[in-house]
Amino acid sequence: MKLATKLIHAGATPDPSTGAIMTPIFQTSTYVQEAPGKNKGYEYARSQNPTRKALEEALAAIENGKFGLAFSSGVAATDAVIKLLMPGDEVICGNDIYGGTYRLFTKIFEKFGIKFHYVDLGSIDNINTFINSNTKLIWLETPTNPLMNICDIAAIANIARKQNILVCVDNTFASPWLQNPLDLGADIVMHSVTKYLGGHSDVIQGCLVMNDPELREKLYFIQKSCGAVPGPMDCFLVLRGIKTLHVRMQRHCENGATIAHWLRNNPKVAKVYWPGFEDHPGYAIAKKQMRDFGGMLSFTLKDDSMENANQVLSSTKLFSLAESLGGVESLINHPASMTHASIPKEERIKNGLTDSLIRLSVGIEDAADLIEDLRQAIG
Ligand SMILES: Cc1ncc(COP(=O)(O)O)c(C=O)c1O
Repeated sequence: MKLATKLIHAGATPDPSTGAIMTPIFQTSTYVQEAPGKNKGYEYARSQNPTRKALEEALAAIENGKFGLAFSSGVAATDAVIKLLMPGDEVICGNDIYGGTYRLFTKIFEKFGIKFHYVDLGSIDNINTFINSNTKLIWLETPTNPLMNICDIAAIANIARKQNILVCVDNTFASPWLQNPLDLGADIVMHSVTKYLGGHSDVIQGCLVMNDPELREKLYFIQKSCGAVPGPMDCFLVLRGIKTLHVRMQRHCENGATIAHWLRNNPKVAKVYWPGFEDHPGYAIAKKQMRDFGGMLSFTLKDDSMENANQVLSSTKLFSLAESLGGVESLINHPASMTHASIPKEERIKNGLTDSLIRLSVGIEDAADLIEDLRQAIG
């Protein structure tokens, strides 16, 4: 099946008792058993739920993986991956990652003896410098949040495989419609399902997708033991969201390209970060591993003051000032004080995330209205 067909049909089988075409919301905490150990495959809803099962099958199918696991948030999915590790293990991860991921690594897991190296993953030499016998995981985002840097998933997976290092790709910004990391050699794909997969800014959820049954067992054990599972209503919302992912993504990409070019031609704008520009340093790799360039972009103003950035951030009318991304409605965000506030200022600036950077999640409204909104805000 082609991806667009899978998005509609994966995980969906008519309900055997009624024929309902949509998977029912199994709002239950437990299941009645015939005798001890004799049940229909469901014992307790932290371990199994039919709505979640349908979603996990759909998530696996659309990421070209064998197994999917859904979590109560993207951060909970990330947390499960790091719980595969032991004290003394080391992780190489991008130096430009979602602030909440950085916070989880530095403030929660470092104190359990796991060491994280924050590295520019655009350079393979950089990665080789940090690999040693304790390296167990490479964690990467591509495109990165918020600087839209690109790294080569296949090349990184190739190095990692030779040394038995797991590769986990946070595929939130691309979505499965634009990029499938397992096909490029990654071991695990992670999503903040909250974003493009849910697509309607009405649910918090995360997921992991993988091919290796042993890895699936370990992660399933963590999922049920630590208990960060999503509720059935949220699973239903995501099952519904997934069905339109391709149509939404096509418009996100179209609008993203239109706005990136418009911003670049605006005399008040200094720099636009978007991997679809041919002179973006990651363009060739993005073109190779992605099907299009997405609806996320960031920019700075020529008059690079906080005052000016604040003026733009508080003047848009269609672009709502909010954290998050990937919903049908356009959002404007100030990474330094919002999504990436948990990264110390020196770290942020060192990696190019300046105080005045503005991030856009371009929605699927009419592009002309979005441009008009930015025109009146930028002045
Ligand atoms: C790239 C990326 N990864 C992970 C997360 C965390 O996901 P959640 O907010 O669903 O926990 C986010 C949230 O903004 C994100 O942007």
